[in-house]
Amino acid sequence: MAIPTETVYGLAANAFNEEAVTKIFKAKNRPSFDPLIVHTNSLKKIETFVEGIPEQAKKLVSTFWPGPLTILLKKKSIVPDLVTSGLDSVAVRIPNHPMTLELLSQLDFPLAAPSANPFGYVSPTMAEHVNAQLGEKVGYVLDGGACEVGVESTIVSFLNEKPRVLRLGGLAVEKIEALIGEVEINQHSSSAPAAPGMLKSHYSPGKTIVLINDFSLNNEDNNAEIGAIVFNTPLENIPLENQLILSRSGDLDEAARNLFSSLRLLDQNPNIKTILTEYVPNEGLGRAINDRIKRATAKKD
Ligand code: TXA
Ligand code: MG
Repeated sequence: MAIPTETVYGLAANAFNEEAVTKIFKAKNRPSFDPLIVHTNSLKKIETFVEGIPEQAKKLVSTFWPGPLTILLKKKSIVPDLVTSGLDSVAVRIPNHPMTLELLSQLDFPLAAPSANPFGYVSPTMAEHVNAQLGEKVGYVLDGGACEVGVESTIVSFLNEKPRVLRLGGLAVEKIEALIGEVEINQHSSSAPAAPGMLKSHYSPGKTIVLINDFSLNNEDNNAEIGAIVFNTPLENIPLENQLILSRSGDLDEAARNLFSSLRLLDQNPNIKTILTEYVPNEGLGRAINDRIKRATAKKD
């Protein structure tokens, strides 16, 4: 079943039931080395399946949960290895969506849920996106409207002494640091990453998507076939109707909200062959947006 959250839609199953979790991996065509986030609605429930919650983590979650924050903690054996890809840590989050919180409050087990997209593709921010991409593979989509944040949660590891951000996401690093002090940020993109969402060419749509600076318009190009996703100002020489503006007022939260649906729209527009895009200011949610843009424009192997 697909569930709405404030970040993106998730494809959910009983986290304690291996058979159910297997179905998630199958539906997404997700490699088994990529572990899942476990969702629930209370710290009390989380305490039943993790070894302990460090003080700094407690501080962070008491401020930002429910919200776009995932933390990594040592797991208890009740969490199947399948969920964590054999790691001894588990990623947990209390999402902020009224329907999903209500659902979670009625369950006596947590829900393992990756983003509800085929592996490697852009995450869904509307129920329609889930239906379009996973269709019959999903029994039921709980339609909670458009996601308010629009990019996946920020993942912070508390496995070592110093908290470390493994994935930039819907909670700005600035807000985290204001509360618990400086954190380390993982910037690597190897093939055996600590958080495989960090694979270099993740979030890529099907079409060629390139950074504006890496692209030169020449005479042979038919500009009518070029689309663009820009921050706040349309590009010259490209038809306006082919351009999606993430936020006219230059608001990074609004830009994050619009990013994935914009990628989708242009990717599905049969008149457009190439998508141009650009980085946004690298602060607040701009850092998560730039991370996704970097991956979407990375060359596929
Ligand atoms: O906003 C979100 O986080 C959404 C919604 C549905 O909650 N979920 C999401 O899940 O983005 P997914 O599976 O697309 O991304 C989860 C990331 C993956 O990159 C995975 O590798 C990482 O979390 N992860 C999960 N468990 C981990 C663990 N034990 N150690 C390291 N990374 C982990
Ligand atoms: Mg994902």
